[in-house]
Amino acid sequence: MGSRIERAFSILPISIAFLARSISDSFNASHSDSDSKVPSKMMGSVLSVYLMLLKRIISTIRYGNKMTNASYDNPFSLLHAVNLLSQQSRINKFSKAIDEVVTTDSIVFDIGTGTGILAFLAAKAGAESVIGIDVSKQNIDYARRASKANELDDRVKFIHVHFDDFNPEIKADIVICEMLSSMLLVEQQIPAMRRVNDSLLGNNGTTIPKSTTVYVVPVQSEYMWNRFQTGDLRFPKMPQSVGGLNEVDDLADMQTLFHVEYRDLNTDFHVSEKLSFEIITDGFVHGIVGMFEAELTPEVLLRPEDGWKHLFVPIKQEKRVRKGEIITIQIEYTPGEFDSISVAIES
Ligand SMILES: C[S@@+](CC[C@H](N)C(=O)[O-])C[C@H]1O[C@@H](n2cnc3c(N)ncnc32)[C@H](O)[C@@H]1O
Repeated sequence: MGSRIERAFSILPISIAFLARSISDSFNASHSDSDSKVPSKMMGSVLSVYLMLLKRIISTIRYGNKMTNASYDNPFSLLHAVNLLSQQSRINKFSKAIDEVVTTDSIVFDIGTGTGILAFLAAKAGAESVIGIDVSKQNIDYARRASKANELDDRVKFIHVHFDDFNPEIKADIVICEMLSSMLLVEQQIPAMRRVNDSLLGNNGTTIPKSTTVYVVPVQSEYMWNRFQTGDLRFPKMPQSVGGLNEVDDLADMQTLFHVEYRDLNTDFHVSEKLSFEIITDGFVHGIVGMFEAELTPEVLLRPEDGWKHLFVPIKQEKRVRKGEIITIQIEYTPGEFDSISVAIES
């Protein structure tokens, strides 16, 4: 937190200097310019620039390393959201879950709506009203165009806002949130669901998904390990998506890292687990592979093959292991904070 505040306040002197300079400029202008509207116009634009700077400072303090409005507001967010329209099995499962839960008097929020697909499915399932929110302006513009094209704009509204700043007048009966990612590391599923529980969902409300379980396994993967060296150039190792299961070999049976019931999520959520694995074949541990399963409803289980790649997280030094050996792996991270992960084998 200290470093967030430091970073935020590092731009404060610049913004204060900027404000002081701008006010003094506009004050001078008011004396030299006979049109009294000009200085007040200038003051207006000076103040709006200052407010923008203040917003950036507050955002830096509040969101820290998490992805902020600014970092999501780029063309890749829309390209990614539209790409997700091709994941038919993912969409079919959400559709089934939404049909199960939504009734004609449901108020539904879709957090991280992207193209608006899940919001539209809720409207088609008969919801009384649906609000989709997204931090990307381009996604919201696209979803609005889609709602007009499908004549759903009377029942589905879209708002460009970060979930932390979404303060609706009413609470939802159902909140849909699909910001899932392998190990829930990169996307904002957990922070978003915390906000949902704190402020957005009525007392008897339902979330889709209802819960998520993350699994991990130690692996050998020359393919992933060698990715960080090109000729005589070396690169820092970091988590990477696994393209195909032939790229990694499991060295033990998979285990549960954690299970989260979204309705029970009401505190800061940090993963800090020590897991012991019995090695099933001789080899080298290069890291772990993580994946998730999400229970959309008790009837509908979303699995990685519905649209997610597994995640390889490297350890610092490869470690030789023998069949039958027990190894203990310490895994730490804050979901939604990509840089926070550390995986270490205890010796
Ligand atoms: C994985 S996409 C899912 C899109 C859509 N719900 C679907 O199922 O196709 C996640 C979406 O969440 C949005 N998002 C990410 N962080 C957000 C935040 N802090 N507040 C609101 N939306 C956010 C992204 O812009 C993106 O459109």
